[in-house]
Amino acid sequence: MFYPEDIVEEVRRRNDIVDVISPYVKLTRRGGNYFGLCPFHSEKTPSFSVSPQKQMYYCFGCGAGGNSIGFIMEYENYSFQEALKVLANRAGVTLPEVEQTEEEKRAASVRQQLYDVYRDAATFYYYLLRSPAGAKGMEYLRGRKLTDETINRFGLGFAHTSGGLYRYLKEKKGYADEVLSRSGLFKYSESGERRVYDAFWNRVMFPIMDARHRVIAFGGRVMGEGEPKYVNSPATDIFDKSNTLYGLNFAKSSRRKYFLQCEGYMDVIALHQAGFDCAVASLGTSFTSGHAMIIKRHTKDVILTLDSDGAGRKAALRAIPILKNAGLDVRVLSMKPYKDPDEFIKAMGSEAYEERIKQAANAFYFQSDMLREEYDLTDPGGKTQFQRALAESLTQFRDELERNNYLEAVASRYQIDQRLLRDEVARLGGRAVPINPETGDEPERRKKRARDSGITETERLVLSEAFSGGIPGDVFVKLFTPEDFSEGVHRELAEVLADAVKAGARLSPAELLNRYAEDSELSGRAAAVFSASLPEDADPDRKKKILQESIRRLRRLSVERRSAELEADDRTALMELMRLRKRIDTETYEL
Ligand code: GTP
Ligand code: MN
Repeated sequence: MFYPEDIVEEVRRRNDIVDVISPYVKLTRRGGNYFGLCPFHSEKTPSFSVSPQKQMYYCFGCGAGGNSIGFIMEYENYSFQEALKVLANRAGVTLPEVEQTEEEKRAASVRQQLYDVYRDAATFYYYLLRSPAGAKGMEYLRGRKLTDETINRFGLGFAHTSGGLYRYLKEKKGYADEVLSRSGLFKYSESGERRVYDAFWNRVMFPIMDARHRVIAFGGRVMGEGEPKYVNSPATDIFDKSNTLYGLNFAKSSRRKYFLQCEGYMDVIALHQAGFDCAVASLGTSFTSGHAMIIKRHTKDVILTLDSDGAGRKAALRAIPILKNAGLDVRVLSMKPYKDPDEFIKAMGSEAYEERIKQAANAFYFQSDMLREEYDLTDPGGKTQFQRALAESLTQFRDELERNNYLEAVASRYQIDQRLLRDEVARLGGRAVPINPETGDEPERRKKRARDSGITETERLVLSEAFSGGIPGDVFVKLFTPEDFSEGVHRELAEVLADAVKAGARLSPAELLNRYAEDSELSGRAAAVFSASLPEDADPDRKKKILQESIRRLRRLSVERRSAELEADDRTALMELMRLRKRIDTETYEL
């Protein structure tokens, strides 16, 4: 069901963004904009801005951004259509009734069809669990001490005998084999007579949902002992496990200021049932920077509550640098003597767990305790090596005061002479020490990252000024093509802008943001462009100067990039670029 663009725009224009956001976020006027505490990540000083002029919001802290439709989608976990309906209602706009025909259904994107299949499959498993055929599954889940409320909240289900789901989706729901085979929920045997098997049978089913509560995959567990313990549905057009966190759909609305990261489905569910609705888990053991970035959009504090066994501790060691690199504060919770949150809470209750949350220590202690286990401290040589390694890991704290605090703490923790440790750190500090051997975040890499973020900032500023008229349209078109920009969204915006200049059309940031509403990541990046601005306190001459230098910088970067991509023997092109490079040094821009 798609609404025409002009209807979408009308609804958006009839809703002032300040009015839309005010009920959710307390906004205070500052200059031409409003500021408040960001509802999408936890913070103490306001970095969430709303621009009445551009009709958009942008958080300088976490990078969330978009127009009023995007805000409602993000805040309420609504789909585009749902958010549009809310805003249409609010403004008294009647949306046209669009009934989907069979024709349109087939034409709808594969993704939408997969969402439909998974939703219907989840419904099928859900009712089966609650029917006599699902008694065994229900008994198993109740045996794991899940309440009916929890079983319902997580939409748990049951896969009975093979073939049941296929018949339901094919015969009752009328799905074509093309989409069913793409869903990964079935196995097709092509030898001889074609047969189709359900991928899941005789398992309790855990629907995996995205942040908008859409079912995108399943985990199925054997009841009791058996191999494999879990079967997960495969990657599809709507499911990428390196970007999916189980429990995120609930955790993102938690009032708690941190996320609890645990290991499995059952741990997430046990924690939520005990009132810790901020628990999430990656699916299986692989934790990626994609996961870290998702977490970062909702909080800056993560508490690891991974299994206490060897595998869990290894997983924690791998996850810590990934989380820290994303800029998150990481603590580690000890569940000893229990193995995982599920067991702990069953044995000790939620108050005791709450207590363990309070006691969770900075991940550095966990890392150094693990480090200590690698050395034989009864041996003088081993002891020296441990002290060296410890000193080296202390250099990860770039802030001197912070480093000192940790230094003192670990010195007494492992009974090491503080002075010795301090000398060793100082000695290492003189060298280029890898900040983090795990991720290879050494100084060169850091410098490159700082440079990349400088480029991003410059591109944002130039585009933003081109959109607002600070750089006249014809000047922009003469100087830049989309290829001069390094990032997808930036290139796309440069292209849209050039088209508009040629057509003599005016563009509004908020209208452009409609096209990114379905993808909050892109929406945030586009909003970042529109909210880039010259320093407000600079005088007009200075502003002009900054803008001219930004243009020059971007032009240079583009020449550099093009030179690097040239064939080695393309001397003509190289000479051309060198001449251009020279010209850029002295050219002036009419602003
Ligand atoms: P319970 O053992 O029922 O408490 O479940 P759990 O969620 O605590 O599982 P466990 O700690 O054994 O494993 C953690 C996570 O790893 C699970 O939730 C699954 O996501 C994944 N996992 C475990 N076993 C398997 C398996 O056999 N196959 C696959 N694909 N994933 C598994
Ligand atoms: Mn477990």
